[in-house]
Amino acid sequence: MKIAVCPGSFDPITKGHLDIITRAAKLFDAVIVLVSVNYDKKTSFTAEERCDLIKACITNLPNVQVDRFDGLLADYVREKQACAIVKGLRAMSDFEYEFQMALANKKLYAGAETIFLTTNAENMYLSSSLVRQIASFGGDISDFVPEEILTPINQRLNRLYQQKKLGKE
Ligand code: COA
Repeated sequence: MKIAVCPGSFDPITKGHLDIITRAAKLFDAVIVLVSVNYDKKTSFTAEERCDLIKACITNLPNVQVDRFDGLLADYVREKQACAIVKGLRAMSDFEYEFQMALANKKLYAGAETIFLTTNAENMYLSSSLVRQIASFGGDISDFVPEEILTPINQRLNRLYQQKKLGKE
């Protein structure tokens, strides 16, 4: 059985992520969407919230499951005996960082390949922080996040924004 892991912060999941996950699900027997830790980032959603949001978007993908892990991605991939780490590549600016991660992961666990899927042209500019910023100011994010999670994301980010605003006053 060929298992792939799609790792990320998913803070929150966007249509860009979902596109990569859906395409990976066609290439592998099983896909694990892994909510992992990027120590350079402070997240707005808890790991549990991020998992729940992803779960709400993948109900039509029977070979996809969601998990979370606080350790090294390579250790998780080894533990699950996955053969691939799947990531989306948005632009050349992503390449250097992704290349470094892919080499490091390969060094830590040689049993899996990192596979890059090119992001759809319409998602090239998309990022989770862009979504957070637009939603926290009450902007329309319906083009950027799956419809199923539009309301909870808007509610959560708007609340955070109001709390921050009150803190400053
Ligand atoms: N479409 C649109 N946007 C996308 C996208 C796609 N297909 N793929 C990624 N993005 C966005 C993400 O939303 C993210 O946006 P943000 O910077 O505003 O949060 C940005 O592109 C970067 O995504 P990514 O490169 O996947 O970074 P990440 O922070 O989401 O995930 C981890 C990085 C968690 C996978 C990585 O830090 C990791 O593996 N951590 C585990 C610990 C570990 O093993 N570290 C050593 C690794 S060698």
